[in-house]
Amino acid sequence: MQKDLPIEVLISEADLQRGIDQLAKKISVQLKNEGADPLVVLCVLKGAFVFAADLIRRLSLSCEVDFVQLSSYGSSETSSGTVTCKKDWEVSMQGKRVLVIEDIVDTGFTCQYLRERLLAGGAADIYFASLLNKPSRRLVPVEVEFVAFEIEDQFVVGFGLDADEKYRELPFVGVVRE
Ligand code: IMP
Repeated sequence: MQKDLPIEVLISEADLQRGIDQLAKKISVQLKNEGADPLVVLCVLKGAFVFAADLIRRLSLSCEVDFVQLSSYGSSETSSGTVTCKKDWEVSMQGKRVLVIEDIVDTGFTCQYLRERLLAGGAADIYFASLLNKPSRRLVPVEVEFVAFEIEDQFVVGFGLDADEKYRELPFVGVVRE
């Protein structure tokens, strides 16, 4: 347990950095070898902002960066299944390769929604990179090309992820024990 916090560490700061380092190398090699279309890194707010900042500085690729803010959870711990867009991206996706950066893939609704919208916007290739993946929770089949850590079915916070807007600032990923 962390001092004064009801949080149990699941993935430490050092392990997160090692995992992100390895993932950045894998993404850099694969994307360098696959096509020459311009690359957009699309960070999904709010949860992915910490992961995206760490990942992007380790990629040996030139890219544009943009942001999209989605919502499917409200203040609950389960997805409503309906994804709504609170802030859209600004760059044109026409003919671009897009690397979507997610904090966690859970039911898969968010990835499915983004893939459909990016295809409609003319994206040439779409890749998903997620810090965390909870495959046992999947409700729709989605392909996540790059995952740093697979986790069990438990609600996690920290390193950008929140529980009702709390705990995003924690430097590790943990589980709330209340
Ligand atoms: P999906 O659409 O169900 O795959 O959910 C994706 C979004 O749900 C993520 O981007 C997170 O914002 C949120 N989410 C899912 N699981 C967790 C969790 O364990 N902690 C915090 N947020 C979560």
